[in-house]
Amino acid sequence: MSRRGSQSLPQRRLRAFSPQNVADDQLLPLAFARGHNSASDDASFVRLAFAGRFAPVAMRFTTRTRPLATKLAERTGLTGQAVRVCPRRLSALANVPAPPKITRPLQRPQQRQFHQPQHHQQHRFASTMRLTADNINPNVRRAEYAVRGELAVKSEDYRARLSKGDASLPFEQVISANIGNPQQLDQKPITFFRQVTSLLENPELLKNEDVLINGLGYKTDVIERAKWLLKQVGSVGAYSASTGVTAIKESIAKFLERRDGFPADPAHIYLSAGASSGVNTLLNVMCVDKSTGILIPIPQYPLYTATLALLNATCVPYNLDESKAWGTDLDTIKKSYEKATAEGIDVRCIVIINPGNPTGASLSEDDVRAVIDFANQKNLVIMADEVYQTNVFVGKFHSVKGVLRQMQKENPGKYDSMELASLHSISKGMVGECGHRGGYFELVGFDPEVEANVYKYVSIMLCAPVISQCLVELMVNPPKQGEPSYELYNKEYTGIHEGLRERATALHKAFCQMEGVECAEPQGAMYLFPTIRLPKKAVDAAAAEGRQPDELYAHQLLDATGICVIPGSGFGQADGTLHFRTTFLAPGTEWVGSIVKFHQEFMDKYR
Ligand SMILES: Cc1ncc(COP(=O)(O)O)c(C=O)c1O
Repeated sequence: MSRRGSQSLPQRRLRAFSPQNVADDQLLPLAFARGHNSASDDASFVRLAFAGRFAPVAMRFTTRTRPLATKLAERTGLTGQAVRVCPRRLSALANVPAPPKITRPLQRPQQRQFHQPQHHQQHRFASTMRLTADNINPNVRRAEYAVRGELAVKSEDYRARLSKGDASLPFEQVISANIGNPQQLDQKPITFFRQVTSLLENPELLKNEDVLINGLGYKTDVIERAKWLLKQVGSVGAYSASTGVTAIKESIAKFLERRDGFPADPAHIYLSAGASSGVNTLLNVMCVDKSTGILIPIPQYPLYTATLALLNATCVPYNLDESKAWGTDLDTIKKSYEKATAEGIDVRCIVIINPGNPTGASLSEDDVRAVIDFANQKNLVIMADEVYQTNVFVGKFHSVKGVLRQMQKENPGKYDSMELASLHSISKGMVGECGHRGGYFELVGFDPEVEANVYKYVSIMLCAPVISQCLVELMVNPPKQGEPSYELYNKEYTGIHEGLRERATALHKAFCQMEGVECAEPQGAMYLFPTIRLPKKAVDAAAAEGRQPDELYAHQLLDATGICVIPGSGFGQADGTLHFRTTFLAPGTEWVGSIVKFHQEFMDKYR
C-alpha cells in the first residue's frame, strides 16, 4: 500500500458492504467490521484474517487497528481494494475483478453474511475460500511419485474387487511388484526383533519370564535385550531426545566401526522415521530455492525428485551407465555438473544410491572413489543412500564412509573437508520393517552451525518413533554367534537373503528369454530394471492414449495379470529408452511365467 493510500484511509466507521452489490463470481475477499464497539474486537478479527481464518478485512480503523489493517492489505496484495474502501467508493468495488480462483468464498454458503449488525457472533461468517487444487502449494501439485501413483491405485482397486469375490478379472491375485515392501509380500519378520519389541510394547510380560521362556520359546537374550532397551528409553510411548536415544546412537556408532573399520561418533548420528525422513531433513536444510542444485542419479528413486519439487529446488540429473550394469560414469556426472553451473545453478550435493533403486546395481569401489574425488574437487556434499546395503548378491557393499576414510588415510589432508551424509533404514534388507518407519543418518565433516540447524530441523519433528529406534538398535546389533537367539536369527536371515537371490535369478533368467528385453544381472537391492523395446504400433497406441509406451505396457500387464510394476518413465530414463521396474519380493514363480506370457501376447498384438 502506498503512503498516500494509507493517509487517505477513512477514519470513521465504514458503511456496510453488501454482497448484493457484487456478482457471485466477483465476490471479493473483503469483509467489513460490523458494528464492533471495541478496537480489540477489530484487532483480533484482523489477526484471524492474517491466520487465514477469515477474509481480508476492510474495517473501521482505530489507531490500534490501522497498522494491522495496513499490513494486512500489503500482505494480501489487495491493497487497492482493501485500502481504498470508503463509503463513496462502494459501488466501484463491484467492478473490481475477483482475485484468481475464488470459487466459493465461505465455508458455509447458506450462512454467508457480509454484514451482520452489532453482534460478536458475526465473526463466524468470514472464511475466505475453499481449497482447490489451483490455490494450494503449487510445489505439492508438481511433485510426482510414481511408486504409489496411478498404477498402484488401480492395483489396490483390483485387490478390493477380488476380495469381494469379483470373478470378472482375468487373474486371482494382485502381485504388488511396484514397491519394495517386503512384509506385504510374505517376507516374515525376524523373530528376535519381534520378540524384543513385543516386550518393549508390553513390559508387563516381563513379570512372567518363565511363561515367556517355557511357554512362548523366548530366549534369555531376548529378555535381556528388552530390559536393557527399556532402561535406555524408559517407555516406548514417550518422546526421546530429538536426535534419538543416546544408547541407540552408541550402538549404531559401534556397528559403523565394525562395518567400516574406522571410528564413528554417536554425536553425529540422527535417528529418523525411515531414511525418507532423513532425506527430507537434509534436503530441507541444504536447499535454498531454485538456484540450489542437487545431482541426482537417473534413473532414481522418486523420493529425491519429489522432495526437490516440494522445495522448489533444482534437480541436476546425471545418467547412470546401463552398459556398465548401471554404474556411475564420471564424464556424465561432470557434464551434468558443468551444464548446471553454466546455467547459474549452485550445485551443492551429489546423491548416490548404492545399491541402486530402481537399477539394483551395486557400485564398485572404483565408482565410489571416483564420486568422492569429484565431490571433493567441487565442494559437493555427498548424500549416500545406503538403505540396501545388506541386499547385495554380487561382490561386496562399499560404504561411502568406509571408502572416504580409507582415501583420507591414503592421502593425508586431501579429503579432510569433505561433507558426507549417509543414510540407512530398517525398511529393507532382511529386516524389512518398513511399516515401522525407522532409520538413521550419520553426518561427517559438516560445519557445526549447519549441524545445529539440522538438529533444530529434526527437533521440530520432536523425534523418530521410539519403537522404530529400538528396531534400528536390533538391526545394528543382532544376536551374535554363541548367543541363545543366534541360530534362529541366522537361519531366518540367510533364508531371506537366499530367497531373494533365487527369485532375482529366476526373474532375470525369464527376462533374458523375452523378445526385445535386456536385463543386467541382479547385483543387489530388491529390483530388476529391464530395458524393453516395444514395436512402433505399441508406441503409437501409447501416444494415442497420452501415455508413455512403458506406461501403456505396465497398465496392460496389470490389467491382464494382476502384476503391478512401475514404468521406467516414473524413475527417469535416458531418452529413447524404455524400462520397467519390478521387485523380486513376491513369493513363488508362477507370476514370473505370467509376465513372460503377457509379454509375448503384447508383442504379438502390436507387431
Ligand atoms: C533408495 C531408497 N531410499 C530410501 C527409501 C525409503 O526408505 P524408508 O522406508 O527408510 O523411508 C527407499 C524405499 O524404497 C529407497 O528405495
